[in-house]
Amino acid sequence: MFEVISKEMLSPAICRMKVYAPRLAASARPGQFLIVIPESHGERIPLTISDYDSVEGTVTIVTQRIGVSTGEICALEAGDCFSDVVGPLGQPSDFVGQSREELAGEHFIFIAGGVGTAPVYPQVKYLKEAGAHVDVIIGAKTSDLLIYKDEMRQVCDNLFICTDDGSEGFHGLVTGLLEKLVSEDGRRYTRAVAIGPMIMMKFAVQTARKLGLPITVSLNTLMVDGTGMCGACRVTVAGKTRFACVEGPEFNGYDVDFDEAMRRQGMYRVQEHEAEVEYEHECKIGRTR
Ligand code: NAD
Ligand code: FES
Repeated sequence: MFEVISKEMLSPAICRMKVYAPRLAASARPGQFLIVIPESHGERIPLTISDYDSVEGTVTIVTQRIGVSTGEICALEAGDCFSDVVGPLGQPSDFVGQSREELAGEHFIFIAGGVGTAPVYPQVKYLKEAGAHVDVIIGAKTSDLLIYKDEMRQVCDNLFICTDDGSEGFHGLVTGLLEKLVSEDGRRYTRAVAIGPMIMMKFAVQTARKLGLPITVSLNTLMVDGTGMCGACRVTVAGKTRFACVEGPEFNGYDVDFDEAMRRQGMYRVQEHEAEVEYEHECKIGRTR
């Protein structure tokens, strides 16, 4: 059984859990993801891996409550079990194949948006241990929605914070801060990696293009089976159909058709909203699934 070993709330709607999954923890690499099924017959939810510990046999996942299924995950407590946890899925980040000598010459800038900050953490940790220089931008709407600040400070060279409302750090979006760091402060980077909402990644790519920076993005598409069979996760990359679950989730940002990816991501918004309304009604009358 996939027991929840510990749970904490990072903000009122974002929870972090350590889950006992020893085989997954032993083989997970930065950039990969997993699928959880909170209860039998429940929905399969793809989540990025926020940390893994092969000695403890645990993986860490961070979930934002945005609908019925993510609500079911956030309702689990230490001692409860997931019906299933499948993974690691997808390809590891491309830098995982690079030697220490190659990575020592790299200066990465990570652009982390909102809850997308959690999967940035294992990548930064891996790169620092491998000898690369790594700076990180974390952006959130407001100060209380910033996550992983302390953890990230422990593993990166420089951490830069921004908030949309100016309540902490730079007042503005991650793209504005990236541009400031490079164009005004004269910081030099060899590669960028952006992980967060699709719209953020789209504009991060535009900014990177302007700055002449190669950029990798991690696509959080719709997913069902996670094994390349159903086609739910298909995206157009460099004019070709690719399956994010087996060929991604990371791709060269310049090649991604973001407008199509965002359209596909929103395909079930009406049904998701209806399911949430029904779930809230059932909770109110004391008849939850
Ligand atoms: P958010 O909407 O608060 O955005 C986070 C930051 O992204 C903002 O503070 C801003 O700096 C930047 N941003 C947003 N829109 C932008 C734009 N138009 N131009 C430039 N920068 C922009 O983030 P949230 O509410 O935490 O959203 C969570 C989203 O992240 C969900 O959609 C979730 O699916 C996604 N997510 C993605 C991954 C992934 O692997 N890509 C992983 C986890 C979560
Ligand atoms: Fe089904 Fe990728 S999620 S093919």
